[in-house]
Amino acid sequence: MDSNAIRRKFLEFFKSKGHVIRPSSSLIPQNDSSVLFTTAGMQQFKPYYTGEKDAEKDFGSKNITTAQKCVRTGDIDEVGDATHCTFLEMLGNFSFGGYGREKAITYAHQFITEELGLEISYVTFYRGLKDVVPRDEESKNIWTKLGIKDIREDGADVFWGPTGDSGPCGPTTEIYCKNGAGQDVETWNIVFNEYFCNGPREKLDRGEATLTKLDILGIDTGMGFERLLASIQKKESVYETDLFEAIMSIIFPQGLPPKDNWVYEKNVKASRIVADHSRTAILMISDGVLPSNTSRGYVLRRLIRRAVFNCHENNIQIMPHHLVEVFAKKYNDVYPEIFNQKDEIIKVLSDEELKFLKTLKEGQKELEKMAMALWDKYDSFGKPIEITLPLNGQNLFFIYSTYGFPFELSIEEINKIRLHLSHGYKYEVLSDTEVKKLKEEFDVEMKKHQELSRTSSVGMFKGGLANHNEKTVRLHTAHHLLLAALQAVLSPEIKQKGSNITEERLRLDFAFPRKMEDVEKKKVEDWVNEKIKQSLNVIRREMPLAEAEKLGAQMEFGAKYGDTVSVYFIEDEKGEAVSKEFCGGPHVTNTKELGNFKIQKEEAVSAGVRRIKAVLL
Ligand code: SER
Repeated sequence: MDSNAIRRKFLEFFKSKGHVIRPSSSLIPQNDSSVLFTTAGMQQFKPYYTGEKDAEKDFGSKNITTAQKCVRTGDIDEVGDATHCTFLEMLGNFSFGGYGREKAITYAHQFITEELGLEISYVTFYRGLKDVVPRDEESKNIWTKLGIKDIREDGADVFWGPTGDSGPCGPTTEIYCKNGAGQDVETWNIVFNEYFCNGPREKLDRGEATLTKLDILGIDTGMGFERLLASIQKKESVYETDLFEAIMSIIFPQGLPPKDNWVYEKNVKASRIVADHSRTAILMISDGVLPSNTSRGYVLRRLIRRAVFNCHENNIQIMPHHLVEVFAKKYNDVYPEIFNQKDEIIKVLSDEELKFLKTLKEGQKELEKMAMALWDKYDSFGKPIEITLPLNGQNLFFIYSTYGFPFELSIEEINKIRLHLSHGYKYEVLSDTEVKKLKEEFDVEMKKHQELSRTSSVGMFKGGLANHNEKTVRLHTAHHLLLAALQAVLSPEIKQKGSNITEERLRLDFAFPRKMEDVEKKKVEDWVNEKIKQSLNVIRREMPLAEAEKLGAQMEFGAKYGDTVSVYFIEDEKGEAVSKEFCGGPHVTNTKELGNFKIQKEEAVSAGVRRIKAVLL
C-alpha cells in the first residue's frame, strides 16, 4: 500500500465508524494566535472540547477524522536521522462527547492489528498525578481485555497538552510498533481530553497552572503518518517510504556513495535535511507563509537556507525549488493547494535561494577566518593568517546580520572548516560548552538588536519613516489610499502583507488569490486619483488601542501595538473616513499634494500574495 492508499484507508475506516471526514486546517493556526504553527490535529478543534462550539451543529457529527498538516521545529537538529521531520501529517480521530476510552482504544487496536496487520509491541497508560489526576486504570483494563501483554505505566510523557497559552489536555495511552529497522517507535497517541489547563505546558509542569475538569470527555488521537508508513512499508527510515522515494532520487540521481565511503553518512544526513526542509518550506508557502526575519517567516527562511546550505556543502546539484513538482503531485489527493500554486511556490523558493547563495560565499570567507583563528594563527603554508574577526558571539551576530547566516549554520560551517583544515590530524569541532557560550553571547547581541529596532519603531510612531523626505512622504499617503482603493475595488477583506517605500515608488503586498485584471487596475488608479482631486484632509489622531480597533482601523497582521496608538485618517468633506490606518506617519496634510497616481506593475510575490508598485507623477 502506498501513502495515499494508507491515508485513505485510515479516513475511510473512521468514516465507517460514524466519523465525518474533515479537511486539514492551515499550517497557520486560525483560532490560536499563541502558537506559530499548527502542531497537532486537535488544534483546529480546541473550541469543541471546551464546549464553546458544537460539532454536531457545525459538522453534523460529534465524531471527526482528519489527516492534518503539522509543523514541529522543536527537533530541527535531529532531522537527518531515521525518524525526525519538521513537517508531519497526523492521522487522527476526534470525538467531543461521542464516545469514551473503550471505543477509542478498541478502534485503534482494530485498525492497527486487523486493517494494517501490524503487531503492537507495547502500550502505555498514565500513572496519575497525586490529588490532581487519577491513575488511568480504565485504559489499562481495556488493553488487558484486548489481550495486550506488555502494558507500561508512565508519567508526564503520557499527559498531553495544552497547545498554546491554554487549552484542553489530559492523560494519554500510546501504542508502540516496530519500524523496518526493528526498533519500537511510538505509533499512535490516544488522548483523553478531560481537563482545561489555564496556562501553557511549561507552567503546568511547574505546578503553576490549574486544571479544571471539562464537561465532556474529549477524544483526540494522533498517528504520525511518516513513521506509520515506515512501519507498514518495513523501511528503516521515513525517507525510504514512497513519500520521499522520488525526491531522494532527484537529490542524488546517481544514488548515494558506497557505505564505506567517508562521505556516506554525511550525504545521507544532508539528503534527508534537504528533503525534509524543502517539503516543510513548500507546505508553509502553500499556506501563505513568506520568508522574512520575524516569526513564521523566519522559521521558513531558516529552513530554506539550511536546505540550500546542505546542497551546497554536499555537491547536491538541485535546489529546494526543484522538488516542488514532485511534492505537488504526491500530495495532490490531499493538499491540492501545492499543485494549484506551484509556480508561485517555485518563485518564492528560487528568490530566497538566490539571495542566500549570494551571501553564502562572502559569509564563508569571514567564517573561515574565524574558524582558523580559533586554533591556529597560520594557514597550511605556514603563512600568518590575518585575523579580522575573532570567534565570539558578537561576530557571529555580525555574520548573521550581514550575511544572513543563522547561528546554527555558522557553527556547522566553522566545524566543517576546522575538520577540513585539520588535514586529518586535528579533528576538533566546537565542544558543546563552546557552542553554548557562543550562543549566549549571540543572544545578548540579538536582544540588543531587537531592542534597537523596537526603539526605532517606537520612533516611527512619533513620526519617522527612515530617511523620509518629501517624495517618500507623498508616496506614503498614496500608499494608504491604494490600500483603501483595493478594498473598495477588489474586496473589503483585502489585507496588507508588506510594504516598502523608496523615493521613486511605493510597493504594497496584499493577500489576493489571483492576478488583477486590467480594468481592475484602472479602477484602482481612478479611485486614488479621484481622492487626490477631492483635496481630502489627512489627520492624525492618538487614541487608546481599543478605540482604534473599534473604529476598524487597518492594522498590520501580527504587529503588536502599545496602549496608545497613532491612527491616520483621510476624510472627505462630510468627515467620513475613506482610509484609516494605524501608522506613525509622516503624511502630507492634504491629498492635493500628491499629483497623479499610476500603477507601474502588478505581480505575484508568492502563493496568494500580490504586489503592486506604483508612482506619483
Ligand atoms: N494531540 C496528540 C498529539 O498530537 C494526539 O493527537 O500527539
